[in-house]
Amino acid sequence: MLDGKRILLVIGGGIAAYKVLELIRRLREQGARLDVVMTKAAKQFVTPLSVASLSGGKVFDDLFSLTDETEIGHIQLSRAADLVVVAPATADLLAKMAQGLADDLASTLLLATDKKILVAPAMNLRMWLHPATTRNVAALRKDGVLFVGPEDGDMACGEYGPGRMSEPAAILSAITTALQGETRIALPPDIGRAEKPLAGRRLVITSGPTHEPIDPVRYIGNRSSGKQGHAIAAAAAKAGADVTLVSGPVALPDPPGVSAVHVETAAEMLAAVEAALPADIFIATAAVADWRVETAAVQKIKKSSAPPQFALAENPDILAAVAQRRSNRPRLVVGFAAETENILAHAREKLQHKGCDLIVANDVGRAMGREENEVTLVTPSGSESWPEMRKDEIAAKLVRYLAQMLKDRSDA
Ligand code: CTP
Repeated sequence: MLDGKRILLVIGGGIAAYKVLELIRRLREQGARLDVVMTKAAKQFVTPLSVASLSGGKVFDDLFSLTDETEIGHIQLSRAADLVVVAPATADLLAKMAQGLADDLASTLLLATDKKILVAPAMNLRMWLHPATTRNVAALRKDGVLFVGPEDGDMACGEYGPGRMSEPAAILSAITTALQGETRIALPPDIGRAEKPLAGRRLVITSGPTHEPIDPVRYIGNRSSGKQGHAIAAAAAKAGADVTLVSGPVALPDPPGVSAVHVETAAEMLAAVEAALPADIFIATAAVADWRVETAAVQKIKKSSAPPQFALAENPDILAAVAQRRSNRPRLVVGFAAETENILAHAREKLQHKGCDLIVANDVGRAMGREENEVTLVTPSGSESWPEMRKDEIAAKLVRYLAQMLKDRSDA
């Protein structure tokens, strides 16, 4: 009847442990497969050898046993079962379960399992009736733990009352009933599974400032830290995207899981972006220097000469170049607008003349170098303002937003 069912049996340290040998025999007769864990106290009442010979398997007892950890980890041991049975469930084991303590193999498995737990309590009647045990039992019932017994009867200590462990036949029947329903306890739907809304998508992003050389030691640059761009690259990689981050000089490490290309100048940044295409999404967060010195000096300019005059040339607009590509234009081209005034109006204007699909606008004064930012998203169809958040929170939210935008476009 229990053919192929796998049961994790936890034997607690009580006089009733001897009755578990009979339970093991019956479970085996019914075709169940058994993994058995004994607490330290249980071994005072029955020997691991007798348990092992009846159960036909190994008896586990040590949380830190290396061979057990390599052969079968304790998490795996607790998950491989269809049902976890605790017999006898002592007052101590019930208290540990109710509190979520995990200081030995048995209690750790009971906390780590994703399956229903059936307990067969056994203890002195005063221990069973004690308000602490009553509280623990009520908490465990509320947590969904199943109970069989205890029964009224003569106690080993000479008293009479509730506390006797149920007979093996009754425990067997409770096991059979428990196994009839779904025994796996599901996690809430948003936990336990990493969200990968950008799986299978390619994303190219620019970040940081560019440095435009004046001579071998001086450059035109700006105060961009790269924090927002790097955070978006990290969030996109976490969301499953294949990310190429083209970064100007920043003091930040490359985020995990992205391929980073390090550049200095706007021209190098554009070349690196073009080499990284095609992509589904392009995001320009870099604060690209608008101008470069037309001809940078080959040698360091000496102070002894008169103050130098520089002819400046305009740098390529990387965002506009990508947004206006005829071939290999990413389906979503996203720009940032760093403004000091009229934020929305400037953002709308940038959206239009650069030809991108979305502008994330922010007030430079509130963003540069800070951990937080407050942004407004502007698309051809409208705008939406987000409250102040940490840059990594904005990154995660933006990645979800872009995944949805891409999905809507694919569905349309
Ligand atoms: N951008 C770019 N290449 C440039 C200049 C800007 O890719 N040469 C991108 C930035 O990465 C950002 C967006 O364009 O996504 C807007 O940058 P911003 O500095 O706000 O705008 P500019 O085009 O430089 O215009 P202005 O400085 O006049 O506001």
